[in-house]
Amino acid sequence: MPFPFDRIIIEVRTAAVDPVLSQPIDSITREWIMCGIVAYCGHGSAVSALTDGLARLEYRGYDSTGVALNPGNGREVKFVRAAGRLSQLLVALTLDEECNFRIGIGHTRWATHGAPSTTNAHPHRDCTGKVAVVHNGTIDNAVMLRTELMADGHIVATEVDTELIAHLIEDNLSEARAHEVIEGPDLLVAAVAAATRRLQGSWALAVTAQGFDCVVVTRYRSPLLVGESEKAHTAASDVLGFELDVETIRELNDGDIVSLSSRAVWVDAHGRQIPARAPLLGPGPVAAATLDGAPDFTSKEMAEQPSAARHVIDTLGGRLEHGRLLDDLGLPLCCRVRLVACGSSFYAAQITARVLTRIGGIPTRVVIASECTADVNETDTLTVAFSQSGETADVLSAMDAWPRPWLAVTNNPQSTLARRADGVLGLGCGPELGVAATKSFTAQVVAGSALAIAMSAAHDRISGAELARLQAQLAAVPDRLAATDEQVAPIAAELAAELAHQPGWIFMSRGAGMPYASEGALKLKELAYRWVEATPAGELKHGPIALVQDQTPVVVVQAQPAARLAVNVAEVAARGARIITVGGGEDANLPVVAADEEPPWGPLEAVIALQHLALGVTRHLGHDVDRPRNLAKSVTVE
Ligand code: G6P
Repeated sequence: MPFPFDRIIIEVRTAAVDPVLSQPIDSITREWIMCGIVAYCGHGSAVSALTDGLARLEYRGYDSTGVALNPGNGREVKFVRAAGRLSQLLVALTLDEECNFRIGIGHTRWATHGAPSTTNAHPHRDCTGKVAVVHNGTIDNAVMLRTELMADGHIVATEVDTELIAHLIEDNLSEARAHEVIEGPDLLVAAVAAATRRLQGSWALAVTAQGFDCVVVTRYRSPLLVGESEKAHTAASDVLGFELDVETIRELNDGDIVSLSSRAVWVDAHGRQIPARAPLLGPGPVAAATLDGAPDFTSKEMAEQPSAARHVIDTLGGRLEHGRLLDDLGLPLCCRVRLVACGSSFYAAQITARVLTRIGGIPTRVVIASECTADVNETDTLTVAFSQSGETADVLSAMDAWPRPWLAVTNNPQSTLARRADGVLGLGCGPELGVAATKSFTAQVVAGSALAIAMSAAHDRISGAELARLQAQLAAVPDRLAATDEQVAPIAAELAAELAHQPGWIFMSRGAGMPYASEGALKLKELAYRWVEATPAGELKHGPIALVQDQTPVVVVQAQPAARLAVNVAEVAARGARIITVGGGEDANLPVVAADEEPPWGPLEAVIALQHLALGVTRHLGHDVDRPRNLAKSVTVE
């Protein structure tokens, strides 16, 4: 489902002092942690709300999952947890019995500390089994707290820092009860607040407990949202975790605590009741994607690339003259551009940088987000973050290092990145559930190229005729992608079956073809677990050529200057390599429908062939195409 808008207005928070630590915000290291949280309190089935939400949050990690179900009226909280994917949890849940629960919390985990086992799965509990806690984040003073709690007689059953929070809440509850000061949800809120005052680190927490018909949520330096519908109050790490009928979504500020029962009551870091934070703008969560007969989401999303490209062109293509696109995004025209991204998005950013410098002569640099340092004092610079999910921790941290203006190029206009940026270029290519980026990459390349053309036009670096020529070239992209897909898919599948067991591969190209070679190599690594070296062809002779032996597959993405690339192909062929050419020529091994003249964004069609090659090898080896080992769709940890 395309997003119905491509821009949202962002509230810029400029609070100079951290509300919890009372320190200047700039002095605190930002940290973003993997895993997904959902919480539910309403009239419907907690089990279906939690498991549906977890299914949509599995992109944040899928090492283990769990729920705690609170039957209310003082009855015992039920914990169900499983190592592995959500499907394992569904096996462990006895759905008939459990559809009666109306209150619960759930979690999907990407292991950072502690093995991905059932024991380490969230929710965690206190000594009594009455308090249940799910947590995203890291508790930095866990060693000290563990020692202290154990000395006080607590039985700490796991290695996971989250469990300590449950014990702290247990202590606070019994102390408050001893003094009979408060009761009901306010008591649980007070116990959670007192527990967080003991914590150092980062947390998004959802807590429920026997004797309390509510869920209490809070956050500090880890994202958390609350949602409201006619039948429930809910919480989730991001908008995907909400049910489709959610009407209002609000973001907690650091230190906010919200109790969710028949109503949502907000309290700030100082315990004062506050009005609910302003609702986020824009539509509700993305509709759940269905396979519609496709064997897996990855191949379905690959097939959607022509329409993804068309959507971007339809939305942006008419706004390239005189920098209208930048005006629409509310961004100033800067002299320089800094692009930041990770993974596939990084290659899309590299392609955008090439377009900016080639046609606009605009000074541009591309930075891998995790390598970012704020050591270069560049003024008058637009920072553009490419992130399909908008939740990648390294990208969010990198943004903090640079002054505004910030532009987010993302498929999730309600993401943390989009909420913080000054302008948002929405890709609108609908949910991408395959962990390896496919259609979002293609949409990013098209959106980035359109942005680069618009900036070049705004700087008067291209004539009207040149602009019209580039617009026509862009407009032809979707049909070429579709024709390539049809032509190359069966050939790639055959080639993949033949080469599937080759352990080591080389991908190479030159110039505008190189980011595509790198992206093709990444796909083969991510999906098929092959060792792959992606190298500029001219660099072969400086090292990678030593890897070439008889029948080593060398995938060559054809690009300009073709004659120089041919020399490098000859060098590896002479050493027995199995050459696989990807290009528009008649004799290409993986033939694509390429433009007659290489456009500034290079041979985009090649990526279709490279994706099919990776998909074919993966299927032949019997690996899970949609959920590759050790990966997550969005890496929300630095
Ligand atoms: C993960 C995914 C990659 C993706 C990268 C960046 O590593 O597995 O497919 O390219 O994150 O994600 P982003 O959401 O920032 O584009």
